[in-house]
Amino acid sequence: METLRQLIEEAVIEGLVIVAGPEGATMDPLVRPTPDPKFGDYQSNVAMGLAKRLGRKPRAVAQALVDALDIADVCEPPEIAGPGFINFRLRPAYLAAQLGRVQADPRLGIPPVDRPWRTVVDFSSPNLAKEMHVGHLRSTIIGDAIARVLEFQGHDMLRLNHIGDWGTQFGMLVQYVRATQPDVLHHPERFRIDDLEAFYRQAKQRFDEDPEFADAARRAVVDLQSGEPVARRLWEVFCGESLRHARDIYDRLGIRIEDRGESFYNPMLPAVVEELRERGIARRAEGAVCVFLPGWKNREGEPLPIIIQKSDGAYNYDTTDLAAIRHRVQAERARRIIYVVDIRQRQHFEMVFQAARLAGFVSSDETAPAEVVLEHVGFGMVLGPDRRPFKTREGGTVKLKELLDEAVARAASVVEAAEDERRREMSPEQKAEIAAAVGLGAVKYFDLSHSLASDYVFDWETMLAMDGNTAPYMLYAYARVRSIGRRAGVDFDALPADLPLLLEHETEIALAKALLEFPGVLQQVSEELRPHVLTDYLYGLSRRFSAFYDRERGVRVIDAEPESVRHSRLRLCDLTARTLKLGLGLLGIAVVEQM
Ligand code: ARG
Repeated sequence: METLRQLIEEAVIEGLVIVAGPEGATMDPLVRPTPDPKFGDYQSNVAMGLAKRLGRKPRAVAQALVDALDIADVCEPPEIAGPGFINFRLRPAYLAAQLGRVQADPRLGIPPVDRPWRTVVDFSSPNLAKEMHVGHLRSTIIGDAIARVLEFQGHDMLRLNHIGDWGTQFGMLVQYVRATQPDVLHHPERFRIDDLEAFYRQAKQRFDEDPEFADAARRAVVDLQSGEPVARRLWEVFCGESLRHARDIYDRLGIRIEDRGESFYNPMLPAVVEELRERGIARRAEGAVCVFLPGWKNREGEPLPIIIQKSDGAYNYDTTDLAAIRHRVQAERARRIIYVVDIRQRQHFEMVFQAARLAGFVSSDETAPAEVVLEHVGFGMVLGPDRRPFKTREGGTVKLKELLDEAVARAASVVEAAEDERRREMSPEQKAEIAAAVGLGAVKYFDLSHSLASDYVFDWETMLAMDGNTAPYMLYAYARVRSIGRRAGVDFDALPADLPLLLEHETEIALAKALLEFPGVLQQVSEELRPHVLTDYLYGLSRRFSAFYDRERGVRVIDAEPESVRHSRLRLCDLTARTLKLGLGLLGIAVVEQM
């Protein structure tokens, strides 16, 4: 189904062809939601620019366009305002018919895309040797939401965890452990993530203080890379334990992701460097192998290269990312690769993408219509109440496991505090389910509802508030709509579907429009990769629902008469619930039927 806006855009384009000739077909119809509902629902500003080109009066051009429009079944007669804005107001009968169709469709009127794209989402991607902490939160949550939206659209998704499981930090660890902790080799099963953290701290300290140790650590990297058995075995123990720990977090958050860390690409690195040199893109400079990209200068105005092989022969993060792009395009046949990574890595990705294009890594094969799309979705930091990077009170890193535990515990008391008759009869299991949904949902929703690039202050009170644009409010809104069905004694699924609804009251019409905006919103999220567009929409939808269901402002539902009106309104409830459930689900947030 087309989105409402597309429908109007297409009609305006047809009108443009009539008014301006064939070139009208290539013009942007400039259709936007109106700034104020009193002008209608959508507005086109195309007449002004067109008038200039045709040397005619804008209002006259607007009138010619309106006369040429074939849109009477969708909109009321369009009105011309001001210097030549054309305002469109959707007809309730049209909305009613569309909603009837949406109701009959389990996908709520959103068909899978015609041409699915093989799409990689590279997200979460923690560096091992550390327990997952708050710094991994955003990538994990945002990446999952983006993957879910694209998956729902029918794209062929590959969710990849580009784990930092390779590199100098492991040399340091291997050296420290093989020199001082022989037990790890003998009893790897006793090794725990906490040990790893402690070893890492100690190793880092020695690395910084003791040059001899630092040298030995560098040699350990070489041992690891050349497959020396002890180094290799220790590395496996470290990674195995870290991954097991990460897996617990993902399971708890309901996140699917495939582990494919940096080490996976390690065997490909020499060939990548070779290929870049052969193509004349990389060359030796001061012992290292570098890629000089046009346009990149450092502060001193000197060329700023990407180093892909250091003078000691070691490869690095950039090399691995180049190899990963090549592999994802050539072996995985990706058409779009999305990196959900801290915004501070923007330059890294810009440079790597540019290098990959130069190297021809992104024009896959003859069958691919165009270059592979590479996108970096950068996000801001999570801050503490002091607006500095979020730390524990003692100044340590906030571990993700502890953060999630706290979220659920706090949610339990919030839900408990909101006294409600029915809740007293709930079983402990049911209460636990609600606390988990609210707590984890709150952390996710709070994160996703911020615009990506800005930092935000992690604030339990705001995210767990029962009112406002929060998960508790949204989950409560959902449960409340579902309870209407129970109280009305109707099974939503058994309500007549595929008939037009009856839309009369202004709150009904407003709710209907909001429901029909959902496909357009998902479309926008999938293009712009900004999940907060979806949270804003869902919040707006639940507000429209509240107005509709409100005793004073809205309409009667459960006791509405006659039956046809009651059914129509219950169907609006059903559609609202389904839209909220699907929308929240695409954000990775599970709903509960009762709250
Ligand atoms: N491990 C990296 C970090 O913690 C993030 C990796 C992101 N993905 C990538 N392909 N570079 O900073």
